[in-house]
Amino acid sequence: MSQAKLTKKIAIITGASSGLGLEFARQVEKAYYLDEIWLIARRSEPMKDVADRFHKSKGIILPLDITDRGDMLALHKRIMDEKPQIEVLVNNAGYGKIGPFAELGLEEQMQMIDLNVRGLTYLTHIVLPFMQSGAKIVQVASAAAFSPSPYFSVYAATKSYVLSLSEALHFELKGRGIEVLAVCPGPIATEFFSVAQKNEYMKNKVGQAEPFNRFLVVGAKDVVAKALVDLNKGRKRSVFSLPIKAFVSIVPFLPRSLVLRALSMRKQ
Ligand SMILES: NC(=O)c1ccc[n+]([C@@H]2O[C@H](COP(=O)([O-])OP(=O)(O)OC[C@H]3O[C@@H](n4cnc5c(N)ncnc54)[C@H](OP(=O)(O)O)[C@@H]3O)[C@@H](O)[C@H]2O)c1
Repeated sequence: MSQAKLTKKIAIITGASSGLGLEFARQVEKAYYLDEIWLIARRSEPMKDVADRFHKSKGIILPLDITDRGDMLALHKRIMDEKPQIEVLVNNAGYGKIGPFAELGLEEQMQMIDLNVRGLTYLTHIVLPFMQSGAKIVQVASAAAFSPSPYFSVYAATKSYVLSLSEALHFELKGRGIEVLAVCPGPIATEFFSVAQKNEYMKNKVGQAEPFNRFLVVGAKDVVAKALVDLNKGRKRSVFSLPIKAFVSIVPFLPRSLVLRALSMRKQ
């Protein structure tokens, strides 16, 4: 595509109605000089609340379902019509479902792939014609990207895809001056685990357990602050907290069977 005539400077943040995405919205607004920040998720109210507190940028609320083809085509059309200069894309929307692959619902697992993989890939592709040198892409992966994960199998596989794509694009887009960062957090205190446990397999279970040791859980604010620092340093990965850094550094060197056994211990 020939270089479009770019006007206003914007950021696009997905999954901005909760958790990490809300925090990205707050911190990106503070860190960058942008005309608009486009916030995407299905629920509008939390996005309106965060946008009301913006000081420098106008918050544009886009209540879209990233798994819906019509919604994504409408977003693509809006970008092509308005021709903004996209300075930052944060591909953060995502969810996981915990349980045995065969007993989780087929549709809820296919939707996970549609959101975590297809939606993220689509958005990354459609923003590129509107990015110039200095633009930045944040792909929210997970520490789960570094190993297969029994009872979290599809989720971990989607995040391995995100990490792989992100690192390839970090290399590919360097020549255009576009930074690409994969954020690989361990457990964060967000709605993620309640969403993860709301599924076909868990619906008849009682006394649902926390899937991770509490001491590993960190706050969204710290994860996002570290991600924005790593983004500015041109790093390809952002991993917050010592135990998670140790996990992602050691795991590639451990026997796969040992890692699989250790991770399967959180079976519900
Ligand atoms: N929390 C953790 O422990 C953890 C650890 C590692 C990685 N992550 C990753 O961090 C990212 C953010 O998760 P979180 O922890 O902040 O969880 P969260 O609080 O559940 O937030 C998920 C966000 O994704 C949005 N979303 C879900 N389905 C969507 C759809 N079909 N279309 C558009 N938006 C959709 C949700 O908004 P609506 O429901 O309003 O649509 C929400 O804003 C995810 O990619 C997750 O995999 C989380």
